[in-house]
Amino acid sequence: MSTSSRRSFLQQAAASVGLVLSASTVATLVAGCEQDESQPTSPGKTYDVSLAAFPELNTVGSIIQTTIAGVNNGEMVFISRIDAQTFVVFSTVCTHSGCGVGLPIDAASNCVCPCHKAEFARSNGAVLRQPTSGSATDLPRFSSTYNASSNVLTITV
Ligand code: FES
Repeated sequence: MSTSSRRSFLQQAAASVGLVLSASTVATLVAGCEQDESQPTSPGKTYDVSLAAFPELNTVGSIIQTTIAGVNNGEMVFISRIDAQTFVVFSTVCTHSGCGVGLPIDAASNCVCPCHKAEFARSNGAVLRQPTSGSATDLPRFSSTYNASSNVLTITV
């Protein structure tokens, strides 16, 4: 979108909600838009994980813990299989005080931190139960894509 069309768009958008923007405000907003476009986002580093090494992940709903060099500062991650084509990768490091969150004890359970009993969803690390004191946030997730033909999960950090 050109600078003039951005300016026009912003002025029309502001007018539609009853705002009057000064020329300097519009210039600042346009500059902000241009800045976003001129700064390409970092593509991140990618790490390929052959899932042939983890036959337990052949089952939808399964979850493992493993260490992948370069991912999660060397700490373990969970790899959770959501469906035939989708995996979710998230940290095992508890966001409460840093203990290692454990694997679910069975197929119907979630991931529980042994230190203060915070519970996280086995499907994506979302907090389901807060610790006995204080609070935890969702376990950090890592972007991943799965290539079914090669059985390789590519994690981007
Ligand atoms: S460190 Fe995990 S609940 Fe406290």
